[in-house]
Amino acid sequence: MKKMKSRIARICLALCLAAMMAGCAGTEKKEEKTGIKIGVAIYRGDDAFISSLCASLENAIKDKEEKLGKKVVVNIADAKNSQSSQNDQVDDFIRKGYDAICVNMVDRTVAAVIVDKAKEAGIPIIFFNREPVEEDMAIWNQTYYVGTDAREAGELEGQIVADAWKSQESRIDKNGDGKLQYVMLEGEQVHQDSLIRTEYSVKTILKEGIVTEKLASGTGNWMRSPAYELMQEWIGQYGSQIEVVLSNNDEMAMGAIEALVENGMSGGNGPIVVGIDGTEDGLEKIIKGEMEGTVMNDARGQAESILGIACACAEGKDPKQEVPELKGQYVRVPHSPVTADNVQEFIDYKNK
Ligand code: GAL
Ligand code: CA
Repeated sequence: MKKMKSRIARICLALCLAAMMAGCAGTEKKEEKTGIKIGVAIYRGDDAFISSLCASLENAIKDKEEKLGKKVVVNIADAKNSQSSQNDQVDDFIRKGYDAICVNMVDRTVAAVIVDKAKEAGIPIIFFNREPVEEDMAIWNQTYYVGTDAREAGELEGQIVADAWKSQESRIDKNGDGKLQYVMLEGEQVHQDSLIRTEYSVKTILKEGIVTEKLASGTGNWMRSPAYELMQEWIGQYGSQIEVVLSNNDEMAMGAIEALVENGMSGGNGPIVVGIDGTEDGLEKIIKGEMEGTVMNDARGQAESILGIACACAEGKDPKQEVPELKGQYVRVPHSPVTADNVQEFIDYKNK
């Protein structure tokens, strides 16, 4: 009898435990269904444009939650420029069963490793800003890329310079030789945008019939302080011969302006400076008259496309329905030229 009682007790206990576990599993499932979890892996958090893109992503979440009527959690991991850390971060997102993974590759040439893993786990993957090679994009049809057209950015930057030259040649052509002497600040050499922005900015100036002369060029890796160092060096070497500073992005333009200010060569006294990105600092320098213009790299538009694709995929919907800009596996968000004439419009757009 005693034995029987303890057997019944044991069975009861087992049944209770099973019921409890089923209950847990039940709520876990429910939670999964009521919310979307997105992992975002960025190449380095101290990159000004990338950090503005992250801020735009966070801003866009609320609207998305309201639209979908469910919670959207975005977890951002900073690889601090290490590809192996980024691979670990993606592994972690996969292990945690995230619904979609967005990756801003440290080294854009090794995306296949990440696509393979995501494919095996069945988790859609959205690359952004640092474009994988076509072969890697072709591995799996649930792989997307959100970025821009680098050629367009270069052309618009060159057009700002050409327009400025045509309307204020006597001011810009300091030595009056009819040629435009410039220095070029380039982004990371491994980045698809650097070479193309460089090439097409100059090509556009030439196409406008302006004769150019390159005094110097060098890479500042998208960052302010190496650009400042380069600019100091060039000012030492070429001084007032520099008529235009072409920069692959605004952060490096900021470094150049810092050096120009220190040497009493900013604003009307020195070369005109043009950048790309339309960062807050960049727009402010345009207002102050220390920068001629920039090209808006629409962080907000890119963030909305990234989030749109990620949420659509997470919900098992066709991302093309949610993000009409998606062509095949690609979204290329258009750029706009920004000068003193229209800068306010872009400040308002950013703050909206
Ligand atoms: C570019 C941007 C740069 C830098 C780079 C990082 O699109 O213009 O400022 O952020 O991406 O990959
Ligand atoms: Ca000249």
